[in-house]
Amino acid sequence: MARLLLGVSGGIAAYKALEAVRLAVKRGHAVRVIQTPASERFVARASFEAITGAPVLSSEFESDRARGAYPGEPMPERAPISHLALVERAEAFLIAPATANTLAKLAHGQADNLLTAAALAADCPVAVAPAMNSRMYTHPATAANLRLLRARGVTVVPPGEGDLASYSEHGIGRLAEPEHLLEACEAMLTPQSLSGARVLVTAGGTREPIDSVRFLGNRSSGRMGFALAREAVRRGAEVTAITANVTLVPPPRVRLQRVQTAAELAGACRRGLAYCDVLLMSAAVADFRPLGPVDAKLKKDEGVPRLELEATEDVLSQIAEMRRPDQIIVGFAAEHGTDAVALGRGKLERKRLDAIVVNDISRAGIGFESEDNEVTILAADGTERHVPHSRKERVARAVLDEVERLREARVGSDGARADTRSPARI
Ligand SMILES: Cc1cc2nc3c(=O)[nH]c(=O)nc-3n(C[C@H](O)[C@H](O)[C@H](O)COP(=O)(O)O)c2cc1C
Repeated sequence: MARLLLGVSGGIAAYKALEAVRLAVKRGHAVRVIQTPASERFVARASFEAITGAPVLSSEFESDRARGAYPGEPMPERAPISHLALVERAEAFLIAPATANTLAKLAHGQADNLLTAAALAADCPVAVAPAMNSRMYTHPATAANLRLLRARGVTVVPPGEGDLASYSEHGIGRLAEPEHLLEACEAMLTPQSLSGARVLVTAGGTREPIDSVRFLGNRSSGRMGFALAREAVRRGAEVTAITANVTLVPPPRVRLQRVQTAAELAGACRRGLAYCDVLLMSAAVADFRPLGPVDAKLKKDEGVPRLELEATEDVLSQIAEMRRPDQIIVGFAAEHGTDAVALGRGKLERKRLDAIVVNDISRAGIGFESEDNEVTILAADGTERHVPHSRKERVARAVLDEVERLREARVGSDGARADTRSPARI
């Protein structure tokens, strides 16, 4: 995992930085924190020190007890120059919250405290997450400062809209949520290997109405689809997710399109196909639906209804007919039992997909409603890759690695790989 440097400046939202650090440490990153003197009036350094397990610095004139080491690293023999040591070894530098004052200093190259001096010396990717009152945020001076920073390659994690800290005020300027802050850091650490690619993901499970309140559904939560969408965003893709009845919090920077039934999902996929380079069909789509659903609630005292089912349209096969040769289409097959892989291979060929991700749903602890999965990725060129029981995030990485490999083979390395990531200069 990575060495992350977090700079905290003096805004009310400094307390949210604690949660971002907690999440980063939980994901295995080694985190060091530097604070502006003003930020210490909002959150004391003891809290950050307890979570990171490392000293927090605030002045360029104080010595670092850890001598510039990140948690888990051996302590260097010599004490370094503090305002350079931490940033020199950071793999990503996030400033959150970034006050209007700190943004102004960063934009104009001031180095009057440890945070701003470190930012000026940063050679790694840098992100700022503004947080302030909406009038401060929308002031032309702040807008111009953010433009300057963006132009130099700094990632700006945009603030949200909602209730602000100042009493009864509502507007734009709330610090992005901790998950989004961490996401921005991880995106900076990931090569932008899908930059320029448009990825369409389907997630969740369709519901086919029986009457106005009941439906035939399945247990797909949308976790796998959201993990794919998150990873594709991280690799620089422009991502749209067609979500069928997913109640999870969506990953940041993913455009959502909500559907309920197999027919709605099929329509959304057909419309979206022309605008995507990669289609990842991870949603569990109903194969059957009740014939003639009732447009009212079926009454218990009218007896047990008889359900007649009809087949839904086979969206994957239809899509395969309509596809452009340069598009990569990946299907997902939840099969039951030991011949799952053989069944998956049959589907891959019949539906003329580029790859299929097969999981055996008879096995406990994986697949539907679980955080984990264990899959075999079969590609049309004959390759077969087994991903052992692991978190869906890891499975998503393996699937996207396979997508990249197939894209490279299809459109050549120039078209498929454009690592546009360049270290920001403050
Ligand atoms: C209660 C209180 C809340 C503040 N909240 C913010 C804020 O959310 N965003 C901001 O830009 N400034 C805020 N300020 C003003 C900054 O603390 C002030 O501009 C300070 O100089 C920032 O210093 P720094 O950028 O070095 O941390 C707040 C001030 C006070 C007293």
